[in-house]
Amino acid sequence: MTPDGISIRAVELDDLDAIAEIYSTLWCNTLRNRGDLEDAKLASRFNIAMQLERSPIALVAESGAGIVAACCVGIFDSGSPRQNDAWEPTYRDLLGRATVRAEQGDAKLEGSLFGDSREKVTADQFAASGNEYAQGQINLIIIRPDWQGRGLGRTLIERARAELRAQGCTKFFLMTDNQSDYAFYDHLGMVRIAEDHSQDTGDGFIVYMYGDEA
Ligand SMILES: CC(C)(COP(=O)(O)OP(=O)(O)OC[C@H]1O[C@@H](n2cnc3c(N)ncnc32)[C@H](O)[C@@H]1OP(=O)(O)O)[C@@H](O)C(=O)NCCC(=O)NCCS
Repeated sequence: MTPDGISIRAVELDDLDAIAEIYSTLWCNTLRNRGDLEDAKLASRFNIAMQLERSPIALVAESGAGIVAACCVGIFDSGSPRQNDAWEPTYRDLLGRATVRAEQGDAKLEGSLFGDSREKVTADQFAASGNEYAQGQINLIIIRPDWQGRGLGRTLIERARAELRAQGCTKFFLMTDNQSDYAFYDHLGMVRIAEDHSQDTGDGFIVYMYGDEA
């Protein structure tokens, strides 16, 4: 059930900055804490555009005060991610800017810019292997901190499932990690289908893959 005062609609091109702002609040802390506000803005805009470019299904939740959550969902056709053409020019533009900036910066900046893209390489390899869950992928689900815990995450996952079913998908997967709120997926009854320790550089970082019925 959609929480009171919230409406859910498809993402529009003008929504990029509002979604990126939520992403930056949640995941660009190191850049923001050291004062790299422009880099945090570039990293968040680039990563959201990257997710949207591979998400034919993209939803935002809006309160009277603006966008408070987003959910991006991909679809695989014979093991390949379906592109969202509307986002291609924005993605290409930001990819160019992120590539130039990464060459000038340090490892933290590079990781903030391209860590999510590397995760997509793993997702695409998984999908290309023909795994039964690789019909759809929840690419991103983010709730603004002051709106967490009010049912929006569950609502958006249910909407994502319905949209996937409408596209003929019977199963889906998602990727998360032990620095994100992965227990949310356990709580919703999803199954952890794989984990990857190869990106652990001494900080104990583990990537988790979850799967479920659509
Ligand atoms: C994780 C996240 C998407 C959950 O969304 P939310 O709107 O806060 O969650 P909801 O209010 O819809 O919670 C639905 C249920 O999940 C439970 N839940 C929510 N977050 C949880 C967590 N981190 N661990 C375990 N259970 C959780 C709630 O208690 C609730 O349970 P109930 O319905 O049985 O009472 C949101 O907190 C978020 O954006 N976190 C930061 C970004 C992130 O880590 N994203 C996901 C990993 S990539």
